[in-house]
Amino acid sequence: KFVNRVFSGIQPTGHLHLGNYLGAIIKFIELQKTHDCLYCVVDLHAITVAQNPDELRAHIRELTAAYIACGIDYEKQIIFNQSQVSGHAELAWVLNCVARVGWLNRMTQFKEKAGKDRENASVGLYDYPILMAADILLYKATHVPVGEDQKQHLELARDIAQKFNLDFASAIAAHGFEDAFFPLPEPLIQGPAQRVMSLRDGTKKMSKSDPSDNSRINLSDDAEAIAQKIRKAKTDPEALPSEVEGLAKRPEAENLVGIYAALIGETKADVLKTFGGGNFSTFKTALVDLAVDKLGPIGAEMKRLKAETAFIDQVLVNGATRARALAEPHMAAVKDIMGF
Ligand code: ADP
Ligand code: NA
Repeated sequence: KFVNRVFSGIQPTGHLHLGNYLGAIIKFIELQKTHDCLYCVVDLHAITVAQNPDELRAHIRELTAAYIACGIDYEKQIIFNQSQVSGHAELAWVLNCVARVGWLNRMTQFKEKAGKDRENASVGLYDYPILMAADILLYKATHVPVGEDQKQHLELARDIAQKFNLDFASAIAAHGFEDAFFPLPEPLIQGPAQRVMSLRDGTKKMSKSDPSDNSRINLSDDAEAIAQKIRKAKTDPEALPSEVEGLAKRPEAENLVGIYAALIGETKADVLKTFGGGNFSTFKTALVDLAVDKLGPIGAEMKRLKAETAFIDQVLVNGATRARALAEPHMAAVKDIMGF
C-alpha cells in the first residue's frame, strides 16, 4: 500500500568525484526510470562536523549542479536541500524519542568518525543516524540506495519505523491507517562500483576530503584534467593480467580496471579479455578516452551551471516546495497519532 519511493542524499562537503558517480549517482539516474525519487543535498548532515559557511553554500550549489549535470531530471524527480524542509529536523526529534540509546551506541560509523576524542564530537554526529531515519521516513520512502557504510544506519531506520508502528499501533489504527504507518525501507545495491580507490594510493577510498586533488577525478574536471590524472595514476610495472585473479594484491591495477568496467558497464573479466597481457600505457589511453567520453560532458555542464546560481537556487526552492507537500501530511499525521 506504500508508493514505491526512493530517497537518497549526499553531503555537500566537497567536490563530487568519480567515486560518488560510480558508487551512487549512476544508480540514482537508473532508479528515476522506475521510481519516484527524492535526491537530497543533506546539509544538516554536513554540519555534524565543522563547515565554513561560505564553502557550505558553494558546495550545496555544486552538488545540486552535479545532480543535474549527471542527468537527474529535476522536473520529474525532486532535488532539494534538507535544511529547507523543516520536517527533517522535526521528525528527527520525534524519532529521537522512539529510538533507544543502546541502538545508537552500536553504530560503528560514529566510532570511526568521532575518532579518539569522542567526548569532543558534536552531539549531532552521534545523532546522525536518527536524522537519516527521519529523512527517509518523512516521505515514507520504500527504497534507499546505500553504500556499505550506511547499511547499519538503514537497519536502524527500519527498527525505528517498526517500533513507532508498534508503540502507536492503536492510535495508528484509530486514525484510519490500515496497518503500518511507516514502511520498512529496503536497501538497494548502489552503483556499479562500491569502492573506487584513490588514484595515488590504491588502498584508500577516493574521497572528497583527500587533500591531493590528483587522488580523484572530480566531476567538474575538464577533459584535460581527466586525461592528466589518469596518465599520472599510480600503477605497477607488470602487464595487465588476463584473469581477474591476477588483480589480487595489485590494488592500483584492480582499481583502474574496475573504473573502466564500471564506466562502460561490463565486468572486470570482460575488460581483461580486451586488455589482458597488454601494458598499462595502452590501457590508460583507452581509459582516458572512455572517461573523457563519459565525464567530459558532465564537467562541461557543471561549468555552465556554475554561472547559473539563480537557476540552481530556483531548482532547490521548487524542489523544497514539492518535498514539503509530500512531507507535511505525514508530519501532521505523526503529531495526531502521538497526541499533539
Ligand atoms: P556521504 O557522507 O553523504 O556518504 P560521501 O561523499 O561519503 O558522502 O558519499 C556520497 C555517496 O557516494 C555515498 O553513497 C557513498 O557510498 C558514495 N561514495 C563515496 N565515495 C565513494 C567511493 N570512493 N567509491 C564508491 N562510492 C563512493
Ligand atoms: Na560516506
